[in-house]
Amino acid sequence: MQKPKHHIFVCGSFRVAGEAKGACARKDSTALIQYIESEASDRDLDNVLVSSTGCLNLCDHGPVVVVYPEGNWYGGVDEARIDEILDGIESGTPASGQLA
Ligand code: FES
Repeated sequence: MQKPKHHIFVCGSFRVAGEAKGACARKDSTALIQYIESEASDRDLDNVLVSSTGCLNLCDHGPVVVVYPEGNWYGGVDEARIDEILDGIESGTPASGQLA
């Protein structure tokens, strides 16, 4: 596998014991992973990798997504927001509305 240029982390709310109990998982953040993979494939973005994470400590803003190496954090993410985030990756201009 080629080293990805962009790594998208989706909060999966995992805790130390490995259980997905937090706010993001309750808001179905794990479904976003499949959506991102599908969208990235449709867009031929072969330089994007998506992973789930443990709690990112911004639960009130969930589902939370982080894009590196840009270091952009997004809250309240849904499929429409994923489209904007991927648009930003494609264009080189990150989607607006990032968490501070
Ligand atoms: S559960 Fe996602 S930020 Fe805490």
